[in-house]
Amino acid sequence: MGFRRKDLLGTRDLSADEIRTLLESAESFKEIAERPLKKVPALRGKTVVNLFFEPSTRTRTSFEIAAKRLSADAVNISASTSSVVKGESLLDTVDNLQAMAPDIIVVRHKSVGAAHLIAGHIGASVVNAGDGANEHPTQALLDLLTISAHKKLGPGLRVAIIGDIAHSRVARSNIWALTTLGITVRVCAPPTMLPRGLENIKGVEVCRRPEEALDGVDVVMMLRIQLERQDRLLFPSLRDYAAIFGLNRRRLALARPDAIVMHPGPMNRGVEITSDVADSEQAVILSQVSNGVALRMAVLFLLGGQGHE
Ligand code: NCD
Repeated sequence: MGFRRKDLLGTRDLSADEIRTLLESAESFKEIAERPLKKVPALRGKTVVNLFFEPSTRTRTSFEIAAKRLSADAVNISASTSSVVKGESLLDTVDNLQAMAPDIIVVRHKSVGAAHLIAGHIGASVVNAGDGANEHPTQALLDLLTISAHKKLGPGLRVAIIGDIAHSRVARSNIWALTTLGITVRVCAPPTMLPRGLENIKGVEVCRRPEEALDGVDVVMMLRIQLERQDRLLFPSLRDYAAIFGLNRRRLALARPDAIVMHPGPMNRGVEITSDVADSEQAVILSQVSNGVALRMAVLFLLGGQGHE
C-alpha cells in the first residue's frame, strides 16, 4: 500500500495500512541518523516551509532536520517575527507563501482546524504539526514507531494515557491511531480534564484512578497539564495533582515489569512525572525525540511525491 494523500492533517481518518506504510518508511530512515554524512537526495529541489504560530522545541526542530536530511530547502517562520503581528490574516499569510511555490507547508496553530483550512485553500501539501487541542498526527506516529521498537503493535497491547486528556492533541491523535491498530487505550484524568464520550470509542477504557489505568499495561504515556489552554487551573494545586495523578516509582510498579514510559515533552518534572521515573531505564522519552526525525522524514518523503506509486 502506498500513501496517496496530499496532506497529513490527523490520524483520525488514517487506515491501518496507511499507518503501517508511514511506520515502515520511517523505519528505513532511522539509520540515516547513524551515518557520518546524514543526508540523502530524496527531496532535492523541494521547499518545505515550517509555519509555527505556537511555541515548539522538538516538533519544529525535527521537521527542519528531517527536511534537511532529505536535501529539501527548509524555511522557518515563527508568528512572532512574521507579519501576523502586523494584522495579516492566516489565509493572506498562506496565499503569500503559496506565491513563492513551496512544496510542503508544516503548520502549528492554536485554532482547531487551522491546518485543514490551509490545506483546502492551497495546492502545496500541508502537515498538521498541532492545531489547538485537536490533532498532532506526527507525534502519535512517532509514538507508534517508538512503541514498535519494544512491543508488537496490535490487539493485546495495552497503553495507558494519563494527564490532561481534554486539552491534549497528543492524546487525541494517539487514541485514533492506537485504536485503529486494535490496541487498547486506557485514559485517565481528573474529571475536569476528561472529555465526555471517550468511552464510546471502540478500544478506549476510561479509568478514574491512575492505579486502575496502570494495572498490567505495556506502555505508559504521561501528559503535561496544558495550562495555556485552560482559563483557570482545573485542579486545586499542582502539588495535589502530582500526589494523585503523577507517575512515580510506586505507581509505575503496577504496570508490567517491562512496561515503557513515554512523554511527548515538554515535561514538568515533579508534576506529571518524577525525575527518577523520567530518567529510568524504562523511559523511552529521548528515543521518541530521535524517532521524531525519522518519522517526519517519512511524512515529508511520502507527501513530497517520491513515495507515490
Ligand atoms: C506537545 C504539543 O505541543 O502538543 N508537544 C510536542 O509537540 N511534543 C505536548 C505539549 O505541549 O504538552
